[in-house]
Amino acid sequence: MSRYEKSAACYESALAHIVGGVNSPARSFKAVGGGAPVFMNRGQGAYMYDVDGNRYIDYLAAYGPGILGHAHPEIVATIIRAAQNGTLYGTPTPWEIELADRLNQALPSLERVRFVSSGTEAVMSAVRVARAFTGRPKVVKMEGCYHGHSDFALIAAGSGPSQLGQPDSAGVTESVAKDVLTVRYNDLGALEEAFAAWGGQIACVITEPIVGNFGIVNPAPGYLQAVKEITHKHGALLIFDEVITAFRVAYGGAQTLLGVEPDLTTLGKAIGGGVALGAYGGKAEIMDFVAPLGPAYQAGTLAGNPLSVQTALTSLDILGRPGTYERLENDGAYLSENLMAIARRHGHTVQLGRNGSMFTIYFTDRPVVNYAGADGADKEQFAAMFRGFLDRGICLAPSRFEAWMISIQHTRADLDETLEKAEEVFAAMAQR
Ligand SMILES: Cc1ncc(COP(=O)(O)O)c(C=O)c1O
Repeated sequence: MSRYEKSAACYESALAHIVGGVNSPARSFKAVGGGAPVFMNRGQGAYMYDVDGNRYIDYLAAYGPGILGHAHPEIVATIIRAAQNGTLYGTPTPWEIELADRLNQALPSLERVRFVSSGTEAVMSAVRVARAFTGRPKVVKMEGCYHGHSDFALIAAGSGPSQLGQPDSAGVTESVAKDVLTVRYNDLGALEEAFAAWGGQIACVITEPIVGNFGIVNPAPGYLQAVKEITHKHGALLIFDEVITAFRVAYGGAQTLLGVEPDLTTLGKAIGGGVALGAYGGKAEIMDFVAPLGPAYQAGTLAGNPLSVQTALTSLDILGRPGTYERLENDGAYLSENLMAIARRHGHTVQLGRNGSMFTIYFTDRPVVNYAGADGADKEQFAAMFRGFLDRGICLAPSRFEAWMISIQHTRADLDETLEKAEEVFAAMAQR
């Protein structure tokens, strides 16, 4: 009997009702050789349990939000309390003020904030505000960074840094593509080239300050500061998409860790403590362009709902405790470095991209500094590693462009169990 029998049956039924059997393409196993994804039905601490009763140590972390692990008792208590008082009022609430204030303390660049329900909404709205503030249409983004699924974010690179983009999804129009330029991350020359060609039309540069979407790639020393200077020299705004990094790499996000403040910031994932919450914000003079104060319209029925906001407050309480990020850093270093050593001992050629508690193992012989490098890493090796771990009760994201993410509920025993399984996984994998 297959270890995944009930998951396979769920997938079969799901295909008949839900497009592709999944509610987000990242959940399918298409990038790792196909087949039924595992259907989970319980999460507890550092573990998830599938419908067949198999236990997994969870390094997927729901693609980022799961920094507190599953069913953290304080989060559960908050959700129950919030639900007992009603989950949605359609009015302002006092908790929103407290959360906005706490975000401003954590990320001082967030002088004014607006809550939304997802990272996609946060980015879409921040870009609109940048266009409204500057009166310019074009956006520069970095190749391989993901900013959600709004139209502008699904534009692929043109043939060079100064060339306009192409739709990367059916249903996105050429006219949207005309307003998007894509340049290489960690490449200041490419950014200069884009500004030289289109400077007066560029509203903003948006980037993940530390990349989480072609694995984990850190900015070269001085890169982000230089990006900010070039952007400002041309009268454009800098947006940091910290949907993955805020409250993950440091309490105050990448901007605090690296000491570079953007004009606007987008947040999501970890701020919600596992419930739907996003936010965007920045300097007051820019955010004042948002309705009802200003001309840039943005709204949301579920935005800043009491359940999400109170859960976020508890999440920040937990993450703000002394030692949280030191421990996450130590655990990230311990697990990733030992995994690399085991892989290499078994003859595999690997590179590590890491920041704190998130990391990626690339099957390539060159350090990865941009999307092309990540894309050049071996797909089949990744798929074999993914399968090897899954079959041994270790859950990773089913894509070589994602990261391992550790939660505060992972213990050293969990990490050591993972390393024991890694010996088997890397030994069984064919070398290339
Ligand atoms: C950096 C970044 N921005 C935005 C998004 C979109 O967030 P959401 O999936 O909540 O819409 C993601 C999602 O993976 C992301 O990684």
